[in-house]
Amino acid sequence: MPTVDGTSDADDRDPVLAQYEAYPYPSRDPKDEKTRLIEGSPSHLDEIRHYLFGGRLDVTADFRALVAGGGTGDAAIMLAQQLSDAGGGEVVYVDLSRKAREIAEARAAARGLSNIAFHTGSLLDLPEMDLGAFDYIDCCGVLHHLEDPAAGAMALRRVLKDGGGIGLMVYAPFGRTGVYEMQAMLRTLGGDLPLAQRVAQARRLWDKLPQTNWLKRNPFVGDHKRSDAELVDLFLHARDRPYTVPEVAGLLDGADLRPAAFVEPLRYDPATYMKDPALLKPLADLDPVGRAAFAERLAGNMKKHIVYAVPKGRADTVAAIEDDTVVPVPSGLDPRKAAQGMGPNPLLKANFDGQPLRLPLPRLAGPLLVRIDGERSLGEIVAGVMAQDSTLEAKRVEAQFAETFRAFNGINRMFLRYPTSRM
Ligand SMILES: C[S@@+](CC[C@H](N)C(=O)[O-])C[C@H]1O[C@@H](n2cnc3c(N)ncnc32)[C@H](O)[C@@H]1O
Repeated sequence: MPTVDGTSDADDRDPVLAQYEAYPYPSRDPKDEKTRLIEGSPSHLDEIRHYLFGGRLDVTADFRALVAGGGTGDAAIMLAQQLSDAGGGEVVYVDLSRKAREIAEARAAARGLSNIAFHTGSLLDLPEMDLGAFDYIDCCGVLHHLEDPAAGAMALRRVLKDGGGIGLMVYAPFGRTGVYEMQAMLRTLGGDLPLAQRVAQARRLWDKLPQTNWLKRNPFVGDHKRSDAELVDLFLHARDRPYTVPEVAGLLDGADLRPAAFVEPLRYDPATYMKDPALLKPLADLDPVGRAAFAERLAGNMKKHIVYAVPKGRADTVAAIEDDTVVPVPSGLDPRKAAQGMGPNPLLKANFDGQPLRLPLPRLAGPLLVRIDGERSLGEIVAGVMAQDSTLEAKRVEAQFAETFRAFNGINRMFLRYPTSRM
C-alpha cells in the first residue's frame, strides 16, 4: 500500500527509481541558488497564466500547484520563487527518488522558500495520497519513463481541478534520431554491467562513433556533455519512449485532457518553415493537431514536446487581446534591446535548433517594444507611440502591436496578462 512519504513495493523494484537514486536529475548544486534562478518551460508563471487561464490568474487566491516527478527541483524552485514574489500560492513536490528530493529541498532552503511541501512517492499513487486537488500540474520529462504513461496521465487528471491545467514535457522522436540507436548499442555492449561502468563505456563509444552516425551529425543533442547524470538520462535510461504530436494528443485524450497550446507556437506551424501557398493551402483545413503533426515531420528537429493541456470540458484558455487593459509581458528578453537598431523593415531573428527564423515585424515594432515593460497596458503603450507621431491612428498602432505580439509570442518571448482588478 503506497504512503505519501514512502514508496510502494512496486516502486522499490523499479529500475527507473534505481537510476534516479544513483544519478539524480538534472545535476544541480544548491549553492548555485545564491547566484541564479533557472527559468524555463513548462511552468513559468507567465506561461501558466497566458496558456491556461486566459491571462487572468490571481495566485493570492489559494493557488495550488503540483510538480509531479520534480527531480532535483527546477520547476518546483522556479514556480515557488515566482509565487513567493507574487505573494501567494503553494507548491507540492512529488518524486520517487529520495536523493533527488534531498537536492530539491536543499535548493529551497538555500533560497529561504517555505511554500513547497515535499513528498516521496509515485505519481501513479497521487489519487490515494490525499494531497488535495490542484489548479496546475507540472509533469516535465516523467511520463515517457513510466511503464504505463497513460495510467500516469490519468492519475494526474484525477488530482487536477476541472478548471485547472497541466504543463507537460515528453520526448519527441525525430530530433532524437540517433539517441535510441545509441541506447540499443549500449544495451548490447553492457546492459548487465553496473551503471558506473556503463557510463565509462558510453563515453568510450561516443568518442569512437563514426562521422556518419546520426548523433555525430546532430549537434543539437548534447546533454551528455554536461554531466554523468545527463549522460545516463540520455543514453542509459532504464525506460524511455518518445511521442509524436498525434501520440501526445492521444495520451492527453485518454486522460480527459486536450492540448491548449504546444510551445513554442511557431515551431508547430508549417508556415514557419515553408511559404509556398500551393503547399500550405491543403494544410489550411487541418485541425491544430494535424498542422502541428505536419510541422513536426517537416522540421525534423523536435527533441521534445512541451504542451499546455486542459480538461476537455474547459473552453478556450489561451489569452487573447480583448481590450486595451491587457498588459504584454516580456519573458527571457529585454524588449528595449530587441528594438535596438531596428530599421524601416524590422525583423525578429531567432533559431529553432539549427533552423534560423527571420520574422518580419511591422514598421512600429521598435516604438512599441521600447514601451513594453510588463507593467504598461496596451492602452498606455499605444498612447505613448501616438504621442510621438500625431498622424497615427490608434487602430493602426493596435494592429501593429498584434502583429508584433504574434511574432514574439510565437517564440515564447511574450505573454498576456490582465490586471488583477478585472479578475
Ligand atoms: C528526467 S527527470 C525530470 C525531473 C524534473 N521534472 C525536471 O524536468 O527537471 C524524471 C524524474 O521523474 C521521477 N519519476 C520517475 N517515475 C516517477 C513516478 N512514477 N512518480 C514520481 N516520480 C517519478 C524520477 O525519479 C526523476 O526524478
